[in-house]
Amino acid sequence: MKQIRHLKTMQRWALDSKRTSGKVALVPTMGFLHDGHVSLIKRARQSAGAAGKVIVSIYVNPTQFGANEDFSSYPRDLTKDLNICEREGVDVVFMPSDTSMYPDTTEKEYSTYVIESSLSPTMEGKSRPAHFKGVTTVVCKLFMLTLPDMAVFGAKDYQQAAIIRRMTSNLNIPVKVIVAPTIREKDGLAMSSRNAYLSMEERSQAAILIQTLTEAKGIVRSSPEQSILTTKIQSILKARIRTKKLAKLDYIAFFDPDTLQPLDKVCKGSHMALAVYFGKTRLIDNIRL
Ligand code: PAJ
Repeated sequence: MKQIRHLKTMQRWALDSKRTSGKVALVPTMGFLHDGHVSLIKRARQSAGAAGKVIVSIYVNPTQFGANEDFSSYPRDLTKDLNICEREGVDVVFMPSDTSMYPDTTEKEYSTYVIESSLSPTMEGKSRPAHFKGVTTVVCKLFMLTLPDMAVFGAKDYQQAAIIRRMTSNLNIPVKVIVAPTIREKDGLAMSSRNAYLSMEERSQAAILIQTLTEAKGIVRSSPEQSILTTKIQSILKARIRTKKLAKLDYIAFFDPDTLQPLDKVCKGSHMALAVYFGKTRLIDNIRL
């Protein structure tokens, strides 16, 4: 397994492998890998084929964190990450440095960003205003550096995957965006590097996210009516979240799965997402109703 830190080395490898090997599949991550990431790596291997190459990028991207967010405390364990990648048969782990990705934060040398403006302003974009600008910019840069044929993202970050798909299509980037299902803990909590922040008590209450989503799905699926007013479901769900003392709701959103536009009424196939704080830790999840 190759470990590449320098941008030029990465790009040279990518250009060489375009000439000599089969397909290249990229899995962009911020590290602290868990079984959710592993499922994306397996999917990448499956899509690239035995003759293809799998690249995992590990980069905690500063531009997608707000000023008061957890950039400096974001969990890191490179030794464990490299072991996981080795075990999964990854061909290249790409680990760029901040100074090479963003040479000058005063914008003298770094002043170019990618902004998706239709799907980004709601939900995560509303709670974290500069977040998606950072995500689209770094993913675009990672695409240019690794030149993959395809890239795998998780459905856990549903809005992120939709925005990356839109960016790739709008900018004519020749990368196939693959979205893989959310991997969960035994109690249904979506796996996330940020789960490591939770205290034991918070962790025991964190299954409220999937319980709330599942309850909403149950309401929609068992309703005799074709569609239900979201205000009606919201109040039931909010009351349920309030039963967990440590949970503080950020948002519940009902939206069209393709356009991400908010819905007043939902039916089978509509989508729901939510964000809940446990102390400073912010967890997100989503479901197809
Ligand atoms: P990170 O949070 O490390 O996630 C990397 C990829 O793993 C994302 O596509 C995310 O959706 C996926 N993922 C996370 N938890 C998952 C789970 N439980 N099941 C399945 N997939 C899961 O998302 C990012 O990093 C960054 O924003 C990034 C795209 C790398 C850009 O910096």
